[in-house]
Amino acid sequence: MSVVTVLSGSTRKKGNTDTLVQAFVRGASEHNEVEVISVADYIIKPCDGCNYCYADKEHRCHIGDDMQAVYEKLKHTDILVIASPIYFYGISARLKAVIDRLHNPIRSAFPIRQAVLLSVAADTLPELFDSVLAQYHMSLRYFHIENLGTVLVRGVEKKGDIAGNPALDEAYRLGLSIR
Ligand SMILES: Cc1cc2nc3c(=O)[nH]c(=O)nc-3n(C[C@H](O)[C@H](O)[C@H](O)COP(=O)(O)O)c2cc1C
Repeated sequence: MSVVTVLSGSTRKKGNTDTLVQAFVRGASEHNEVEVISVADYIIKPCDGCNYCYADKEHRCHIGDDMQAVYEKLKHTDILVIASPIYFYGISARLKAVIDRLHNPIRSAFPIRQAVLLSVAADTLPELFDSVLAQYHMSLRYFHIENLGTVLVRGVEKKGDIAGNPALDEAYRLGLSIR
């Protein structure tokens, strides 16, 4: 039984990212404690690079917004799931803001050792996810985190486009494989 936290980066409720996340969570919940943090429900400012958190003994971030609650949740997370729609060949800005706020030594207190990437996009180009994959794998290598799998879905643009896509079963099975 692991604690799995999903950082979900779409603000379009019940959109393609949400549907993919739901499928993953259905599988992962069989053997784990799973929580979804949707950026749509949190107001999180970008990191301003002041490095106050490095100077502060308790590594507090001086920005007193909803990221403080996310830090608390990540202190108890074994497996981190990054889920995002593609926005201009990257992850969404709201999710990137959350990840950038992990530029804080407090992250050394997180037990995260494994990660998953879920992503959706409208285009069907073979190289569509290359930049996000590079960012994901480089960050994992930097933090010595193991990749458990990725589910990348092309050709889903409008809300509901992902319905019936085989990627939903892939995400479910990936979730189910996690213990
Ligand atoms: C601001 C913005 C930028 C986008 N940029 C891209 C892009 O670069 N490539 C692409 O294939 N789709 C792009 N899309 C389309 C979304 O990735 C696609 O509609 C996705 O299914 C949205 O997921 P959601 O339903 O979870 O919000 C963009 C959408 C928005 C709103």
